[in-house]
Amino acid sequence: MNTALSPDQRADMVIGQMTLDEKIQFVHGTGWGISNVIDARSNGGAGFVPGIPRLHIPDINMTDSAVGICKAAIQGRYATLLPSTLGAAASWDPDGAFLYGSVIGREARALGFNMSIGGGVDITREPRNGRNFEYAGEDPVLAGTMTGELERGVKSEHVMSDIKHFALNDQETGRTVVNVLLDKRSMRESDLLAFEVAIGIAEPSAVMCSYNLVEGDHACENDYLLNQTLKKDFHFKGWVVSDWGATHSTVKSALNGLDQEMPGDDNYFNAPLKKAVEDGQVPMTRLNDMVHRILRSMFAAGVVDNPPIRSVVDPFRGRDDAQRIEEESIVLLKNSGNILPLKASAATSIALIGSHADVGVLSGGGSAQVDAPGGNVIDPKPGPSPWGESIYFPSSPLRYIRAKSPQSKVQFIDGKDAVAAAKLAGSCNLAIVFVTQPMTEAKDAATLSLPDNQDALVEAVAKANPNTIVVLETGGAVTMPWVQDVKGIVEMWYPGIGGAQALANILFGHVNPSGKLAVTFPKSDADLPHPTAPGLEPVSNGDSHHEVRPFDLTYTAGAEVGYKWFEATHRQPLFPFGFGLSYTTFAYSGLQIDNHARTARLTIKNTGFREGTEIAELYVALPSAALENYKRLVAWQRVTLAPGESKSLTLTMNPLYLSIFDVPKDAWQLLPGDYKVTVGPSSGQALLKATLHVRP
Ligand code: BGC
Repeated sequence: MNTALSPDQRADMVIGQMTLDEKIQFVHGTGWGISNVIDARSNGGAGFVPGIPRLHIPDINMTDSAVGICKAAIQGRYATLLPSTLGAAASWDPDGAFLYGSVIGREARALGFNMSIGGGVDITREPRNGRNFEYAGEDPVLAGTMTGELERGVKSEHVMSDIKHFALNDQETGRTVVNVLLDKRSMRESDLLAFEVAIGIAEPSAVMCSYNLVEGDHACENDYLLNQTLKKDFHFKGWVVSDWGATHSTVKSALNGLDQEMPGDDNYFNAPLKKAVEDGQVPMTRLNDMVHRILRSMFAAGVVDNPPIRSVVDPFRGRDDAQRIEEESIVLLKNSGNILPLKASAATSIALIGSHADVGVLSGGGSAQVDAPGGNVIDPKPGPSPWGESIYFPSSPLRYIRAKSPQSKVQFIDGKDAVAAAKLAGSCNLAIVFVTQPMTEAKDAATLSLPDNQDALVEAVAKANPNTIVVLETGGAVTMPWVQDVKGIVEMWYPGIGGAQALANILFGHVNPSGKLAVTFPKSDADLPHPTAPGLEPVSNGDSHHEVRPFDLTYTAGAEVGYKWFEATHRQPLFPFGFGLSYTTFAYSGLQIDNHARTARLTIKNTGFREGTEIAELYVALPSAALENYKRLVAWQRVTLAPGESKSLTLTMNPLYLSIFDVPKDAWQLLPGDYKVTVGPSSGQALLKATLHVRP
């Protein structure tokens, strides 16, 4: 308990006192879920590892918490639903991500958990992946930065943090049987780079290995992923925890880098591991290393010195934080004739249509599901919110739009009947159609099209009323066949418990939108590297379910993920990565490169009539020797400007983000040559150009 010693020293002192049985007890959980017979001390979260009271080592109580603390309802308690992390990534705001993580850490503590197992950073290689909403988009640097800051926020509250799912768990279809094939250079420059960036920033307590196989080995017994890359190259000091049921062996897993089996009832790391250690198949030094990694992370995060103190979650502070994050995350995609912002003083008539916008907002499903207070607002039942269903939270767009525009007549219609919806729209001055794309773990969307005939609903309303605005609540990109027919498009993602207030503030201009897409919005599925999600395409016998039949998935697009794929294959997206509008306008000027410091200086001016925040994005195309036909996001900065105000920005180009992974040398290489630097408001618009020279 001497806090003057380092976490590593303290861990080793504890290990010196531990028996073999205690060590074994520490490297696996006690079983799946509350339905099983688990230790009475468990807090009812996704995972439980009993501590060692005689050595003052506390239990590890793990909670799922991708977008807020899960399973609070089991304890009859409340937790804040934050916007989806994909939404929050659209803020490009590392401070916002830190705040996001601190909300999770704060509420985990209050609910008695000392470990959060969120931190998803699998990049959006498959835009129909059911879990994209709990990740951070398609770019490894943006996703890694945002997720790293988020997990730093978790740790700031003395709660252990996690980054997952390592690695290449980019789709849910066949997730436990799919064998992902991707060349090393592409792997390191895309999916694994996102982890490298996030882990470098967060120094997380744990990294969760994924369900799938990579190049023939399951991720949780994959020497290249765990030993060579994560532990050696990324210098990761924490522990590797298996995804739930993703352990497949004892000796192979232990030797190839897995440190802890969860939830523990597959029985590889209990008696069989003890025997393997006694037989000498797994050296005692390796078992000690596993335990060391767990203990040192407990000391480093402070869960030994500052254990959680149960208290009342502050729902008001949580809601305010969620709203603030959402206000930065909403992306304004279209604003023809400046239909937005709406004027609060106007006495007008507004038709609100669809997606239960009278009562609530949609959330994402699966192990990220936060329990809705009062139950699903469209079908309230007491208790935890069911896994994998469309759960709506009580944040009513109708209520807050009415509050913003007290003189207007605001009417709601559910949108189930497009003719009736069009009739109401035609009788009003303005129509706002809400559309939803429910997404959940364990299921990919078959297509990027909106489900349930919502495209037809939008078309019908837009035909009836030229002043139509569409508000999207989606897990990721969707196609928009009606894009030319509506005046306004607002993407609010799964917006969290402050969603309706945030939306009303954006619609009425109390907050100027500043979010920019963290994913490309394609025009159609046909433009994707895999026009059908692999494993969902029908096979000869008509079956499309690969969950039980192993299959190989070759990612032929390599590192060309998202905007890189669109650029390399000369495709035009519907909306490019990094795109988002504001109610004001910005001018970019004076790009200057410092070759020595590898910085770019430029000036941004607010040329409009209201305060606004711009995100300046810097992309770099490598010299031809890199053999890349796309540019990479390398740096960005958010800047808030009053009307007429100018600011000078300095963006730093991290050499890692400019490097290629040299496979024969097994190392990153910064090639000498000329790097084309472009700066602008999105990946689709290069307003300033210059060259960075890198000398040999
Ligand atoms: C998910 C993980 C989650 C775990 C525990 C798994 O099915 O893939 O993300 O943390 O369950 O609920």
